[in-house]
Amino acid sequence: EETWVVMKTARAPSNIAVIKYWGKRDEKLILPINSSISVTLDPEHLSATTTVAASPAFEKDRLWLNGKEVSVEGVRYKNCLREMRARATDVVIESSGKVIRKEDWNSLHIHIASENNFPTAAGLASSAAGFACLVYALAQLMGVQEKYEGELTAIARLGSGSACRSLYGGFVEWKMGQEIDGTDSIAVQLAEESHWKDLVIIIAVVSSRQKETSSTSGMQESVKTSPLLKYRAEMEKAIKSMNFTEFAKITCADSNQFHATCLDTSPPIFYLNDTSRKLIGLVERWNRHAGEPQVAYTFDAGPNAVMFAKNKEVAAQLLQRLLYQFPPSADTDISRYVHGDQSILESAGVNSLKDIDSLS
Ligand code: PMV
Repeated sequence: EETWVVMKTARAPSNIAVIKYWGKRDEKLILPINSSISVTLDPEHLSATTTVAASPAFEKDRLWLNGKEVSVEGVRYKNCLREMRARATDVVIESSGKVIRKEDWNSLHIHIASENNFPTAAGLASSAAGFACLVYALAQLMGVQEKYEGELTAIARLGSGSACRSLYGGFVEWKMGQEIDGTDSIAVQLAEESHWKDLVIIIAVVSSRQKETSSTSGMQESVKTSPLLKYRAEMEKAIKSMNFTEFAKITCADSNQFHATCLDTSPPIFYLNDTSRKLIGLVERWNRHAGEPQVAYTFDAGPNAVMFAKNKEVAAQLLQRLLYQFPPSADTDISRYVHGDQSILESAGVNSLKDIDSLS
């Protein structure tokens, strides 16, 4: 009996859509009815870390999420594993020189252990980070090379649509594609992480509770094309030219229309709560007084806010206002994360992320 084990670990960040995907033209292949655009978040605060292992001693595929074993029998996991096995190559184990043959991967079982460093399924795209990370880790383990650019994003898409966008950093577009087999429904990078240096992203974790309606079931109820789809090109232009005013207008409008679509479903789906609505009010009033947008907000399938500040100074003010308006109390649990430059916290008079967490 052979006794060996090979393993690889990878980390992938979450992403937040500024033009959202909501509705599928093909449920099985997860093909969307519109293209979407997102920004990939900072892995320090919002990412999944996944270890994948293979050994002849493993009797079946198994999966642990945040330390708890869960079923790997769902079609999403099965589809990802099947597509990765089909692309596996000969892999040499460095320590022993043993060769795992391409065809061996069909019978080798895989163990997967994945951890999120943020609340699972609270509308912060935990499945996006998770499936992007799984596909990337499996590619390392099985020696998979892309045959065309974006091939791995199309496999991550089979796990969770939004996952395809987490394989790249910066601003990313998921092109809806035309083919019925989904080979062209892939993610492409629009701009690198370092492109828009002034922009600061602040996440207000309004609630870390699991959402009541999953995005998958929500989408089945409310298949509608975003009326803002026609602004996709404008959004792309705003990102490329770093035009915050345009970026903010389209981002907020897309988020509001998405939640309006949810409300327009029967029965209605509520993802926002009172705190979310207060946050929207705060930003809207601020922008109106300033005469032009200083902050933009967007909410996914949950109550947590992702806010974009025009620059560091605005970000520091935003943090101060958040701390003032949402003091810690029994019924609000706001903790805040700043994406990127931590010195913003100091200029806001907050010493560290720990300080902020302990206020909640
Ligand atoms: O891919 P899913 O099932 O996590 O759906 C994500 C849907 C939204 O987060 C609401 C929008 C988006 O484009 O990320």
